[in-house]
Amino acid sequence: MRVLITGITGFAGSHLADILLERGDVELHGMERWRSKTDNIDHIKSKIVMHECDLRDASSIRKVLELSRPDRIFHLAAQSFVPTSWSAPAESLTTNIIGQLNIFEAVRHLGVNPWIQIAGSSEEYGMVYPDEIPIKESNPLRPLSPYAVSKVGQDLLAYQYHQSFKLNVVRTRGFNHTGPRRGNVFVESNFAQQIARIERGVQEPVIKVGNLKAKRDYTDVRDMVRAYWLALEKGEPGEVYNICSGTAFPIESVLQKLLGMSTVKVRVEQDPARMRPSDVELLQGDNGKFVARTGWKPQIGFDKTLRDLLEYWRERIGAYADRV
Ligand code: GDD
Repeated sequence: MRVLITGITGFAGSHLADILLERGDVELHGMERWRSKTDNIDHIKSKIVMHECDLRDASSIRKVLELSRPDRIFHLAAQSFVPTSWSAPAESLTTNIIGQLNIFEAVRHLGVNPWIQIAGSSEEYGMVYPDEIPIKESNPLRPLSPYAVSKVGQDLLAYQYHQSFKLNVVRTRGFNHTGPRRGNVFVESNFAQQIARIERGVQEPVIKVGNLKAKRDYTDVRDMVRAYWLALEKGEPGEVYNICSGTAFPIESVLQKLLGMSTVKVRVEQDPARMRPSDVELLQGDNGKFVARTGWKPQIGFDKTLRDLLEYWRERIGAYADRV
């Protein structure tokens, strides 16, 4: 089976590549932009057919599909950081929505019909009221950032292309996921990196934070990418599925859990630059629809995920103490 992962050099993409290569029955294709960082896949890059591509360029993705002829596409490439979508809204909308449009049009142009997973997000729900918890797929979408709007756009574009052209698309709405290789801009990874830096003596014992009251529903990235695979194995084309654990933690308690895994004593300081014009305060999902359809269950508990993430940063900072 030929599989193409967009965003293979990123966080979730690299973990999906790991599990697909372990299967032994997949010819794996990936895309990278000119001068992309590839550290996340350096350990497996020789086993992947890499293509240079920029999704914002329609001719570029058409060429990759012609060469790779995938049976399945996992579309994970995106501008994925909420605050960047306020500083660069047009770029976020273009990369996420037009990038996906270019994939769909290339598929139609070539006359192929691969199964395509579209990575939506719990951010699409945005403003959620306490009586709507746990959030089902049928909840209204009330996006609160340009990023969230871009994910709603991707989600609905996928729905529309399925309805109009019978594309075999399965939409996933992933809630927060984390683990080793998580980008250092995201909250739990940023806190773990700061703790590792403080342990190493390269940062004063002050942890900068933003809104600690928000609540998030975390899944280990390794469980999340198993879910992506199952979405195409067993999901219904055109349908949308929440992928989440069903439990939410306040960000404050994520910080306390990480601090509990270290012996450093720190002062916690709010950094106004880390506050958002409008934050999503409460995300706790209902995974019942996906579990009933696929039998998926998260296997890795949140404490292990956080410990693995902290270890990841300890190792990196040990190796590159002068550069992080
Ligand atoms: N990044 C960051 N840094 N967030 C902070 C900080 C901080 O220092 N302090 C508090 N927060 C709060 C944010 O305000 C937000 O409420 C929460 O922590 C989580 O922020 P992020 O880790 O940046 O993730 P996100 O929830 O906005 O988005 C992530 O999850 C989505 C799925 O729900 C990203 O991975 C998205 O790409 C993904 O779609």
